Amino acid sequence: MTTPSAPQNRRGSRTQPRADAVTAEAARERAEALRREILEHDRRYYELAQPTIGDSQYDALVLELREIEAAHPELATPESPTQHVSGRPAEGFAVVEHREPMLSLGNVFGRDELMAWHQRLVRLTERDDIAFVCEPKIDGLAIALVYRDGRFVQGATRGDGQRGENITPNLETIRTLPKQVRRVEGQPLAPAFEVRGEVYLSKAEFDRLNAQRAETGEQMYMNPRNTAAGSLRQLDASVTASRRLDLFAYQLGWADGERPATTHAEAIAWLGALGFPTNPLAQRFESIADVASFCESWAEKRDALDYEIDGVVVKVDDFGLQRALGVVGREPRWAVAWKFPAEQAVTRLREIQVSVGRTGVLTPFAALEPVFVGGANVSTAILHNFDHVRTLDVREGDDVIVQRAGDVIPQVVGPVLASRVGRESELREFVMPETCPVCHAPVENDEGEAAYYCSNPDCPVRISRSLEHYTSRGALDIEGFGEERCARLVWLGFVRSLADLYTLPEQRDALLAIDGLGEKTLDTLFDHLEASKRQPLHRLLIGVGIRHVGGETARSLARHFGTLEALRSAALDDLQAVDGIGPVVAQAVFAWFQDERHRALLDRLVTAGVRTDEDVSARGGVLDGLTVVVTGSLERWSRNEVEELIKSLGGKVGAGPSKKTSFVVAGEGGRGKREKAEALGVEVIDEAAFVARLRERGWEDR
Ligand code: IVH
Repeated sequence: MTTPSAPQNRRGSRTQPRADAVTAEAARERAEALRREILEHDRRYYELAQPTIGDSQYDALVLELREIEAAHPELATPESPTQHVSGRPAEGFAVVEHREPMLSLGNVFGRDELMAWHQRLVRLTERDDIAFVCEPKIDGLAIALVYRDGRFVQGATRGDGQRGENITPNLETIRTLPKQVRRVEGQPLAPAFEVRGEVYLSKAEFDRLNAQRAETGEQMYMNPRNTAAGSLRQLDASVTASRRLDLFAYQLGWADGERPATTHAEAIAWLGALGFPTNPLAQRFESIADVASFCESWAEKRDALDYEIDGVVVKVDDFGLQRALGVVGREPRWAVAWKFPAEQAVTRLREIQVSVGRTGVLTPFAALEPVFVGGANVSTAILHNFDHVRTLDVREGDDVIVQRAGDVIPQVVGPVLASRVGRESELREFVMPETCPVCHAPVENDEGEAAYYCSNPDCPVRISRSLEHYTSRGALDIEGFGEERCARLVWLGFVRSLADLYTLPEQRDALLAIDGLGEKTLDTLFDHLEASKRQPLHRLLIGVGIRHVGGETARSLARHFGTLEALRSAALDDLQAVDGIGPVVAQAVFAWFQDERHRALLDRLVTAGVRTDEDVSARGGVLDGLTVVVTGSLERWSRNEVEELIKSLGGKVGAGPSKKTSFVVAGEGGRGKREKAEALGVEVIDEAAFVARLRERGWEDR
């Protein structure tokens, strides 16, 4: 991993203009080089599907750029890659009225229904030579993106089709969403236009998030679609950013001025040229029979894709014909969704087994007779917890329906009751084991809870899972500690507690005896270990694995308390007073810090040199009681963003200057309000002065 070089002279010394100028110039050059490099990696990742660096190296580049921009705000631009991975707070979602309604689609199931739909089109248009474009129907969330002068200015959810939610800051976190479109030579760009598309979560990303959640003991996400939806509708855009969403543009919405295309295929090609990700599988057909074959073939191949599709959208290609066909109710006549059937199969449930997680939770899962469903061989399926097994009423030996539709993790739908007849004696009801299947310690269950736990905090599986969790990307992000290696380090006795991790360098000679751990590997591992000591407090809080404390809660705690010391001596009331933390979580955090073992662990980690504080930014109050009016366009923030920022810092946003206005921030243009403010004697400051003022008051931009 590249270690981000911290910009020197962060605050800059005003008494040394020459040195400052040199630093600023060097920073500008470095920022430009980083932007180019990041964009190139984006291209390799998204366009060529051939990334040449790993995620953590990529993140390190972004981090370095962000630090430079923080030290030199004049270098930050809205198009900078930092702007779509950084998190900005938002307060609720404003309503966006769609200029043209966002429609839904009628469904067809199979060839006959498709042919009937086609017949209707032929009748209405009196043409039998209609061409179609077929596109995978992405199982995500519809969004509408507005561009002005080529720049992304607003993004909204579909909502009820007429009015959606303004989720611009969240959409800005999507790496593949163009913040600024590419100019196409010889093609005038409409001054304003809207692009529609689908935001989705790839299957790989869904798996990654769920693996993380399994380790924090948080509830697993059910499917990529819901996760994508939940991620987009986060008030804190940094949460959205941490869930790497993706996007396909599938429609040109309204456009001021001349439309750049006369057919759907042309419009999609145009969007592609502008830099929008468009689906490479889209295809144009001149016969409805070919359309049907395309749809059928994707029903078979859908599992090979890294994103979920639930059908194929069939669209009339020609815009003139689309207009002529029009809309009935909320559905266009010119498009239809060919929906895939749900994928299920029946197989024998051999046994219900349990796995042990980091927190000691025992999770039942179904060991199945392997069966091919949804394009993959399935031999295990998740059963979540004991209550779920009871609700499903599945028994060992049952024939069960297994489903992979819409879900990446196979699920048991239920037993086939008819096949129990005459086989009753072969069926066994599941009972939770009384001892841990790994260390044989007694299993415990809190009254009224669905979860059962291994009672032994030193259970080797628990330790190795804790180690995996501590080192995982969402926590301390220490490369080189995969599942296999963690397990070996624990089973071979090198690590008996998390804190032993930092004693590994002392055991160098012994470690060299392990297969696959050579001098070089160890050097790199130890470098990563050392670097992890500089991670901020919230990562440590995630890493030690406090029940109910995932990324969002950890950030809130770290932001609120600032240091580990303050947090560990917090009373229950103090914890409950933290924004966004309810009584259950507060109690869990409090109890965790009371536990002697945990206190000892923290002491050892601190002695090893791990960092125990957070860069506390925007701890509220910076603009408490002030009313700020913004006029003109700012370099660094969109109107929306700056308003959200002001609110998140405790200020009020005024519509126009009045006697109540504390000060006006004036960007490019916006003369009217500036003059009015001056007439009223209200202070007017520019963007740089605004940033400086926020900083003076303790706001730390990152
Ligand atoms: S076109 C009038 N194209 O499917 C045309 N929709 O029920 C409206 N969807 O909410 C949409 N992939 O979110 C279109 N390639 C695609 C699509 C697609 C997924 C979703 C979209 C919409 C729903 C329609």
